[in-house]
Amino acid sequence: MLEYLTYKFDDTPEFISTFDELPLWSASFGLLLLKHLELRPNLTVLDIGSGAGFPLIELAGRFGKSCTFCGLDPWTNASHRARQKIKNYGLSNVEVIEGSAEQIPFENDTIDLIVSNLGINNFENPQIVFNECNRVLKPNGRLVLTTNLNGHWREFYTVFEETLTELGKDEIAATLIVHQEHRGTVETITKLFTDSGFKVTRYVEDSFEMKFLDGSAFLNHHFVKLGWLSSWRDLLPQEELEVIFQRLEENLNLYSIKSDGLRLTVPMVYIEGEKV
Ligand SMILES: C[S@@+](CC[C@H](N)C(=O)[O-])C[C@H]1O[C@@H](n2cnc3c(N)ncnc32)[C@H](O)[C@@H]1O
Repeated sequence: MLEYLTYKFDDTPEFISTFDELPLWSASFGLLLLKHLELRPNLTVLDIGSGAGFPLIELAGRFGKSCTFCGLDPWTNASHRARQKIKNYGLSNVEVIEGSAEQIPFENDTIDLIVSNLGINNFENPQIVFNECNRVLKPNGRLVLTTNLNGHWREFYTVFEETLTELGKDEIAATLIVHQEHRGTVETITKLFTDSGFKVTRYVEDSFEMKFLDGSAFLNHHFVKLGWLSSWRDLLPQEELEVIFQRLEENLNLYSIKSDGLRLTVPMVYIEGEKV
């Protein structure tokens, strides 16, 4: 069995410390957020999908003590980790609540600003979350999202689709295309805003590149094993996993020789809406 196929995510308090490594991925989106987010004093701010505390804690530090911050996430161990960091940093203007943004535990019209870094692709019901954000925001309050977009890692997905076609797995190739489409476009995200009572006041598109030596380095990379591999495995028949991944790895390696490494594009957006 290929080593990376046996890798298992283990959601225990000890394991969660590895998530302190994740901000290298999250940081690109956090930097986009920090670049465009207007800083104002005396705000009540909510970060939905605050995970292990990024960018919640960074924002609390950047905005300072006149603002109060709350992180909301259903993930127990990540929330504990965030609280530990808040305690370690000695911050008094931030707290973390365990819960879902589908039911935000705040009264109507009480929040000035809601942010979410890489949250939207992970919400099971984004429209419900947007409606909830609209409910708890004050009139003219802002909802600000940063996320990767449809087209994410298109170089990898193209080789993956070609591999499945080469192996005669056209149906799975079609499923893979659907799988990629859960990531929004600027248009679909804008629609979520407008359908829940926001007007989009600003959006900024950007992109960055993640470069790996080849497919073997990519598939064995801790971030890929930690965050992505299980979603691809779930699309494939278990008894054919090994054969499919073996060929995928070979094809990615051939592609990398021709293309000076495996360079993967990550399109992203900063998008801001105002409650109308
Ligand atoms: C990709 S992580 C992003 C974490 C962090 N903001 C960052 O930038 O690294 C997505 C987060 O959304 C959280 N999440 C998923 N469904 C949620 C929901 N319904 N309400 C709030 N957070 C949710 C997950 O638990 C996870 O922590």
